[in-house]
Amino acid sequence: MDTRPIGVFDSGLGGLTAVKELERLIPNENIIYFGDTGRVPYGTRGINTIKKYAVSDMRFLLSFNVKAIIIACGTVSSIAIDEVRRITDLPVIGVVEPTAKTAVEVSKTGKIGVIATSATISSGSFQKAISKLNPDAEVIARACPLFVPLVENGYFGRDCKLAQLAAHDYIDEFKGRIDTLILGCTHYPLLRGVIEDILPGVILVDSGFETAKTAVSLLSEQDLLNTSGKGSVHYYVSDQTSDFERLAGIFLEHPVNGMVDTVDIEKY
Ligand code: DGL
Repeated sequence: MDTRPIGVFDSGLGGLTAVKELERLIPNENIIYFGDTGRVPYGTRGINTIKKYAVSDMRFLLSFNVKAIIIACGTVSSIAIDEVRRITDLPVIGVVEPTAKTAVEVSKTGKIGVIATSATISSGSFQKAISKLNPDAEVIARACPLFVPLVENGYFGRDCKLAQLAAHDYIDEFKGRIDTLILGCTHYPLLRGVIEDILPGVILVDSGFETAKTAVSLLSEQDLLNTSGKGSVHYYVSDQTSDFERLAGIFLEHPVNGMVDTVDIEKY
């Protein structure tokens, strides 16, 4: 048993897809969440910038004496996981392997789509992880760079016309060609309704959700879970708190008012 908090980070709201599942599975845990809303998006930036941001996000979380780190960001998991692991001996859980594993397990045809940020798709991280698990799998990958700004600005409802327009442009090409689609950026599950309506019957694999499940198994195996007390989540962002508070409350289906603070991430 370990009562230290768990550190979770993303460029913004996307990592809440992991937090939502962590809150359900391990309600006793204290979680420190960092969303880098002042520097989002990460996925359209260069490799060195993403690595630099990931290291400062880590330094900030390590200042809380956390017991494990969840990189709830497909982009950082794809580009900077080695840099992150280099600065800590704590368990570090990224999104790529857990998500690829589930996709391979649930796909009946081995025809798997991957949508993620430009940086993630260019890195080939999901494509490599899938072919390691199933060398016969056929992977179609597509970057959807407008999805993160849409989500960060609250355009993620099932009936949102802007989200529908962008989604058609990006994912119409998957129709009839895959049975499973990896939502390889943790922001994309917020667009689940829009994506489901375009690709009915396709299994959507949520990277935040899968990563949370894997993290819980790992913490349990290493006897690091907190089995007593009532857990809570404290949120930090690198820009003003108001938009994050509002949108996080909608997605998590409970208010987070008063639980969000701003941090000057450039200091880390
Ligand atoms: N949630 C991040 C990811 O999973 C979004 C990256 C971005 O900020 O572009 O890739």
